[in-house]
Amino acid sequence: MKGLQILSTGGALPARAVTNDELSRRVDTSDEWITTRTGIRQRYFCGPDESATTLAVAAARQALERSGLAPAEIGCCVCATLSADYASPSMACLVQAELGLPEDIPVLDVNAACSGFLYGAAVARGLLAATGGRYVLVIGCEQLSRLLDMDDRSTCVLFGDGAGAAVFEMSESAPFAALLGARGDKAIQVEGPGPLPSHIQMDGKAVFRFAVDAIPKCVDGILAQTGLTLDGVDWVVCHQANERIIDHCVKKLNAPAEKFFKNLARTGNTSAASIPLALNELYESGQLRHGQTLLCVGFGGGLTWAGALLTYQGKGNAE
Ligand code: ACO
Repeated sequence: MKGLQILSTGGALPARAVTNDELSRRVDTSDEWITTRTGIRQRYFCGPDESATTLAVAAARQALERSGLAPAEIGCCVCATLSADYASPSMACLVQAELGLPEDIPVLDVNAACSGFLYGAAVARGLLAATGGRYVLVIGCEQLSRLLDMDDRSTCVLFGDGAGAAVFEMSESAPFAALLGARGDKAIQVEGPGPLPSHIQMDGKAVFRFAVDAIPKCVDGILAQTGLTLDGVDWVVCHQANERIIDHCVKKLNAPAEKFFKNLARTGNTSAASIPLALNELYESGQLRHGQTLLCVGFGGGLTWAGALLTYQGKGNAE
């Protein structure tokens, strides 16, 4: 079965960083509470000239440029999001228009909350197999700031805006494994579209319990599918929701902590954007090297989960 290999990544964050101290002037919270409970120190919120679309387009454009491919070579475009600017057209169609992607390819959004980017990659792989394409652009983008109740301290401190993207190539030789599932649960709920303001509501403890069960299951499941051990994996990139969730899973798996990439201190939880933003930060910091193997794990609203084994076949940033 053909696998997906990453050729390039891109990312975009709004200009304005919002610190924990800034939020503590709005709701009854503190930098100390947020940092110790979550590891988050700041997040980015869109300003008036920014939106899910501008972020998605910027991240996608960067990934496409770094891939060295022409827009005409892209065989499918999938955008994962739960905070699209419009119910229709999809975010993927907006990116298609801005980047001048071909018209005769599948272009669509998927919503699997924080697992969305990996669901999107799996959907794109299936569509490429069906249509015979070779390259796919997958984006994860969110403008969660507009879904936050800024008077609810239990959620407004957790989330941020951003977009990440990757260009993948279908390859006979790439190892690939995917594990996807969902529990059909409302522990995280975002109301809308409808007449009422949409707000993220969450049973934090239930989500925590779910996450520390889902991550090890995905890691073990992907390793079992591929016959690999963590020694054969260069990076584990989990959805960046909470540092304590990742640390808990590292312990549970008895795994080397240095392989588990973390950037949520700077970005907060950006849902579908978090995994591609983490991949892009690995690239931009010069830590992502040609030939490396990545085990990615998403978990989130739904309650969905997703694991994937991917290889990186682009150039390292330092090369
Ligand atoms: N500042 C100060 N106090 C707060 C804050 C805050 N920002 N938020 C909640 N509290 C208070 C609560 O009101 C409560 O006070 P009380 O005891 O007087 O009632 C107290 O802190 C404890 O609240 P809990 O909800 O029990 O806090 P907990 O220790 O469980 O931490 C947290 C909350 C951080 C949300 C934790 O449950 C968690 O990390 N859950 C996972 C959630 C997550 O990661 N979600 C995102 C994944 S899903 C997705 O990405 C869409």
